[in-house]
Amino acid sequence: MSFYSPKFIRPNVDSCIDTERLNELESEQELARFNGHSELSLDVQRQQLPIFKHRSQMLYALETHRVVVVVGETGSGKSTQLPQYLWESGWTDSKHSICVTEPRRIATINLAKRICDEKSCILGDEVGYAIRFEDCFTPGRTKVKFVTDGLLIRELMQNPLLPQYSVVILDEVHERNTNTDIVIGLLKKIMKKRHDLKLIVCSATVDAEEIKLYFDEGEKNKNSNNLSTCIVSVEGRYYPIEISYLTEPCDNYVKASVTTAMAVHFDQQDNDGDILIFLTGQDEVDEAVSKLIEKATELKSLKKKNFKKLWILALYGSLPVSEQLKVFERTPKSCRKIIVSTNIAETSLTINGIVYVIDSGFMKLKAYDSRLGSESLITVPCSKSSANQRAGRAGRYRSGKAFRLFPETEFQNMKQHTPPEMQRCDLASVVIQLKALGIDNICRFDFLSAPPSKNLVNTLELLHALEALDHNSKLTNPLGFQMAEFPLHPTYSKALINAEKFGCAQEMLSIIAMLQVQHVFITPSGRKIQADKSKLKFTCTEGDHITLLNVYKSFTDKLSKNKKSLANWCQSNFLNFKSLVRASQIREQLRMILRKFKIDMSSSCGDRTEPILRCLCTAFFANAATAHYSGDYRHLKSNVSLKVHPSSVINLFLANVDLPAPKYVIYNDIVQSKTTYLIRDLSVVDCKWLHELVPNYYEFGTDREIRETNDKRLKLS
Ligand code: CDP
Repeated sequence: MSFYSPKFIRPNVDSCIDTERLNELESEQELARFNGHSELSLDVQRQQLPIFKHRSQMLYALETHRVVVVVGETGSGKSTQLPQYLWESGWTDSKHSICVTEPRRIATINLAKRICDEKSCILGDEVGYAIRFEDCFTPGRTKVKFVTDGLLIRELMQNPLLPQYSVVILDEVHERNTNTDIVIGLLKKIMKKRHDLKLIVCSATVDAEEIKLYFDEGEKNKNSNNLSTCIVSVEGRYYPIEISYLTEPCDNYVKASVTTAMAVHFDQQDNDGDILIFLTGQDEVDEAVSKLIEKATELKSLKKKNFKKLWILALYGSLPVSEQLKVFERTPKSCRKIIVSTNIAETSLTINGIVYVIDSGFMKLKAYDSRLGSESLITVPCSKSSANQRAGRAGRYRSGKAFRLFPETEFQNMKQHTPPEMQRCDLASVVIQLKALGIDNICRFDFLSAPPSKNLVNTLELLHALEALDHNSKLTNPLGFQMAEFPLHPTYSKALINAEKFGCAQEMLSIIAMLQVQHVFITPSGRKIQADKSKLKFTCTEGDHITLLNVYKSFTDKLSKNKKSLANWCQSNFLNFKSLVRASQIREQLRMILRKFKIDMSSSCGDRTEPILRCLCTAFFANAATAHYSGDYRHLKSNVSLKVHPSSVINLFLANVDLPAPKYVIYNDIVQSKTTYLIRDLSVVDCKWLHELVPNYYEFGTDREIRETNDKRLKLS
């Protein structure tokens, strides 16, 4: 077996490492080994966390201040210990509990479980959690409740002053995702009305002064010490990490990550320690996982004694929670775990036993294009602070190694921090949620980092066109309010609610649910021809939405089969079983919301697809494009050039000279590569429908576009 091993220059110990603690911790290391201090009692583990020394200081700070900003490296004990300190010192009673927000579902569940272990209590009783569509807590009994930050916004819609909580702990604020930023803004507002509410803001890297200034602003003149903010810093706990860089940039970091992982595995045969690889998204993670599985199988066939087996796991946000939780399972002694992850494992998760980190140096970031009025994910170099966080994952249980798959000069050129999501994302969900909370003047909302005004204006225009807002920019009743209740982008909720009018609610439920999952079709390596042929069974000339509907219908026709034969059916049809199961769960959840609104879900469209496509037009009209003589598409509103994503069934037309390219399409999603915009999930529509269904939006644009396109076509012919 031969594999290419990238060359590294070494060593370059990172400045974030607390080398002074090394000797002190060597003996702990012997005891603790890799699997999470497993030999130490949980009580002892709690007391050894860096935050333990600050227990009294924290409690005193909270007594004397309304807002406490806690800055401490990942693993110092913020998320697991702070809620327990508050609970132990009487901050809860039968009417008030402590709420801890997390940006991610998996961290929310995992932390609640961890506290239950530490407190020897049952999950859902005194310690619980709530994530979208899943409650695991007992009102009146639960003292510590973990929730995703998105869920706290939903709770705020029900109870704007959050009377059920005495303290809210906002965790992982350094991630600066949109929901966290909204929650911060809302809590600042609430705290002006609820003087007994306390707030703890936790962060691994954030500029604490920025948060302090934000909360203190407007309070200075009130002459009250009680309203001020204070900062408590907790030192990190790291063993030294040896950082290696590539001597030259690599062409393919996915491939390089696999070869590096295998090289580490061979080099370190005599040493324990799991490997964590950081890539950018599901595609790359899946690709690396299947390559590693191939390598692991080859290794097995060598039957070399003493060679540790490899246990390969993927980790990304859209993976079902049960799959995600596997990364926390203890690694058997005869095994080495390799976790291939997106930046989900960067800060919010504590995975025990990681000793080697392999960092691609890239991440996927949301970027909003105001011309197209939509956001897309772009792959960009990560920031210095992300790279340091990633490397830090290697030094939790003993000294570790981080392999950066880029030269040191590239690290020096990286930005210090990633810009907050609020400034680069689609704001439609943000605006509709704030409006539902009664914040009508969004421009005057006290954002920690205000979004660009152009993005806000675009968003308001879209929400008006979707009829979610009236001429006073207030939510329409009932449509706007109903749209705000769906945990979906407003365009999707509009399509669902409107389906009643077009008699296609059942079909729309299936389509919208299918659009929430990724990778419905699978193409195993070396079997592209068979996979493409199989896809044709579901494909139709109307485009991807109806194709997805066909897949879902075929899947549900087989639902009476047992799980194994259903999975086999999916496999033989090159369909992703897990994605389809997830889609059926999401469909059910969406159906419940429609039922709550008493929306008629009977379908009358039969085999006709036009009502479905018309209904899609009423929601996705802003994403309409027209065929251009160059062979590409042009965004109808902005004239930006768009290409059809290779995964779309529309390519069948484009590849076949006998079939004309569909003149008008609507699409759901844009993927941005360096120079092109690729549109995904397309349906063929009639431009008359756009005129008819959204006359105000396309009053001028469409006719001009048709004329221009026709003129150019004529010239060409
Ligand atoms: O919030 P922060 O990153 O500061 O730390 P934490 O999540 O409270 O984790 C503190 C310690 O608890 C970690 O160092 C782990 O040893 C342990 N922990 C764990 O073993 N399993 C978890 N699910 C969470 C934490």
